Amino acid sequence: MIETKNINFYYGSFQALKNISMKMDANTVTAFIGPSGCGKSTFLRLFNRMNDLIDDTKLEGECLIKGKDIYDKSINIDALRKDVGMVFQKPNPFPKSVFENVAYGLKVNGITDKKFIANRVEETLKAAALFDEVKDKLNKSAFELSGGQQQRLCIARALAIEPSIILMDEPASALDPISTSKIEELIHQLKKKYTIVIVTHNMQQAARVSDKTGFFMLGELIEYNDTKKMFLNPDNETTQNYITGRFG
Ligand SMILES: Nc1ncnc2c1ncn2[C@@H]1O[C@H](COP(=O)(O)OP(=O)(O)OP(=O)(O)O)[C@@H](O)[C@H]1O
Ligand SMILES: [Mg+2]
Repeated sequence: MIETKNINFYYGSFQALKNISMKMDANTVTAFIGPSGCGKSTFLRLFNRMNDLIDDTKLEGECLIKGKDIYDKSINIDALRKDVGMVFQKPNPFPKSVFENVAYGLKVNGITDKKFIANRVEETLKAAALFDEVKDKLNKSAFELSGGQQQRLCIARALAIEPSIILMDEPASALDPISTSKIEELIHQLKKKYTIVIVTHNMQQAARVSDKTGFFMLGELIEYNDTKKMFLNPDNETTQNYITGRFG
């Protein structure tokens, strides 16, 4: 689903990513772990070309999604971002109703059939494990929801336009343990249909939700392995030191 080949990425003269080659399969959850500043978010943002929005950056290497180089001139960036959704660290619902947050993406994509939209909003809220909690509040402001509910609403907003890939940058780090476990259960459900890449500082979370884990340090991919193997018996000594909490 996603493949990078020899990726180097620079902010000005600072090299944030060094020669990263990685493959991620469809319907898997991949976790990126590593100390602060090691390049996890930078790498994640390559997959929907969010780094394009930052001035004075340079990319070398290839980033393929479904076999296509997403940095090729022929790529339509709006279509790419429709196919590769993103959820951020802090829930960022639009200042609109719960319903409109989910309906928004459908409307901007030209869908006008009210019945279709209403059905889709309900289905998507169910898929995001939120419907039962908000079914009587669909017309209330999204800001009236709890932080954990707002984050599931943001996931629903991303799902509504049917992406293939969902990128999540520390999606639960601002949430309490119960909301966090709801997001983790949700990720587990969603991988049946989507390919998920998640950045997390929480090692237990990486171990619980992901199939594969990539460990980054100072812009390098130190180890990429099956999550079970990575946490029980990593190939690399630095990985071992990091996951056992000896640094970082
Ligand atoms: N917009 C930017 N301009 C210049 N340098 C940046 C920018 N964004 C990130 N960097 C630098 O690139 C490196 C990687 O940053 P990145 O945000 O990808 O790390 P991270 O692994 O996600 O860290 P954290 O765990 O703290 O979120 C850091 O040294 C950071 O200072
Ligand atoms: Mg980050």
